[in-house]
Amino acid sequence: MTSSKVFVHTIGCQMNVYDSERMLQQMYVLSVFATDVMDDADVIIINTCAIREKAVQKVYSFLGRLTAIKRKRPEVRVIVAGCVAQQMGSHLIQRFPFIDIVLGTHAVHRLPEYLKRLDRDGGPVIDTEMTADIPEFPADMPVLPQNTVSRHVTIMRGCDNFCTYCVVPYVRGREVSRRPEDIICEIKMLVGSGVKEVTLLGQNVNSYGIKEGLVSFPRLLRQVNDLIGLERIRFVTSHPKDLSEDLMNSFARLDKLCNHIHLPVQSGSNRILAKMNRKYNREIYMDKVEKLRAISPGIAVTTDIIAGFPGETDDDFEQTIDLMTTVGFDHIFAFAYSDRPETPASRFPEKVPDPVKGERLRRALETQEGITRQAYDRLIGQVFPVMVEGYSKNQIKSGGVKQLHYIELSGRTPENRIVNFHALAQGPVTDIDFSSGRIQNVKIERACENSLWGTAVDPGDLIIAPKGGEAYVA
Ligand code: SAH
Ligand code: SF4
Ligand code: F3S
Repeated sequence: MTSSKVFVHTIGCQMNVYDSERMLQQMYVLSVFATDVMDDADVIIINTCAIREKAVQKVYSFLGRLTAIKRKRPEVRVIVAGCVAQQMGSHLIQRFPFIDIVLGTHAVHRLPEYLKRLDRDGGPVIDTEMTADIPEFPADMPVLPQNTVSRHVTIMRGCDNFCTYCVVPYVRGREVSRRPEDIICEIKMLVGSGVKEVTLLGQNVNSYGIKEGLVSFPRLLRQVNDLIGLERIRFVTSHPKDLSEDLMNSFARLDKLCNHIHLPVQSGSNRILAKMNRKYNREIYMDKVEKLRAISPGIAVTTDIIAGFPGETDDDFEQTIDLMTTVGFDHIFAFAYSDRPETPASRFPEKVPDPVKGERLRRALETQEGITRQAYDRLIGQVFPVMVEGYSKNQIKSGGVKQLHYIELSGRTPENRIVNFHALAQGPVTDIDFSSGRIQNVKIERACENSLWGTAVDPGDLIIAPKGGEAYVA
């Protein structure tokens, strides 16, 4: 392998973000380093998502762009990984014959071997085999140099829930949990390299370890909480049916566990929830949210909503809107239902027409806008600890920072709300190093659509000490 640069394009959920990082680590060991410029790359990886038709279309249009690149530079290696690779396998090669490797979701660790095989024997290489265990990467894999204090750690793979609309069980396979000692070891490595916040990943973290007889998820959280140097813990996703009191109590018990839960409800109609095979109803869901709020006051609850599931009537959808306003989510991710191959729902009758789905989606988002605005208004005057992660979007747009002046910094509260605030910078701070994970108390003054604005308390304190300059609380 003579290549030296790799470009990765990641579509989809945090599982893919994590797998992309694994692929980059393995390339790094082979002295192939990441680049942000696709034209410079000798290896191009696209990590794909199949959750909705739109995500798959993104994959096709990206591969379409690669056709021209591959014509100009045939030596470039093209690797398609992730859920579309898993689902389509050799069909992808039929459609895009220039692909060198189709790397299924269980084959990420075999990437180096396949690159070598490609050099030796030519291609294409296709691996969509599903394995029953999770192969561990060597514990001494290099932690990639990234200017971020927050990382994801996969704790389990696959899903056994088979919600009728969802492709994940087919493309990620059955649920398997990693051993707690491997997870702890990986987090220790990250913390050792300066990471302050980890997000534990699984399609349903609540059932972590149950099948394998490992420690329970709340116990795993306790072990992670004990790690010195780590400041914040988050996790996604919790299936409402399995949200136990033990896990709820973790929010009160564990000082590092952030006061936020992503609890996808999907629909507010019991009839639709049953058709989705979600195994809870709106009453159980709302009861759990109430309990969580009693245990951990101020907890931010976010959710996923599907608009226009087959058979969803206007009345069903009104119940979703009603649940949204009753619960008062902090934030929602809303999607128009999309037929996925192999799923039971794709064969359900009474498909909702696209314009109706679109209209319901619009209403869900509009309703949430009002709810978020009200919730944010209630935060004005309160003080939150914000982990400083970088410049605000405004600051980035205005082109970085030069001399003594106010700068706009940005970070997140434990509730996962983005907060921007001013700091006073001294000296040239074009190259601020945000990796300290400084936690700054900020008093909220203003609410925007998706973020909050505030003033840092304790003026005069040093926030960050960049190379050649310093930034103080304004
Ligand atoms: N494991 C997580 C979610 C994984 S997929 C959970 O159980 O909640 C992320 C979100 O995509 C889902 O919560 C759902 O809202 C949405 N989604 C999944 N399949 C979909 C489909 N076929 N059409 C539209 N949205 C879908
Ligand atoms: Fe898909 Fe349901 Fe599994 Fe989530 S729990 S990944 S929605 S099947
Ligand atoms: Fe997409 Fe696969 Fe994640 S389908 S949402 S990338 S598990």
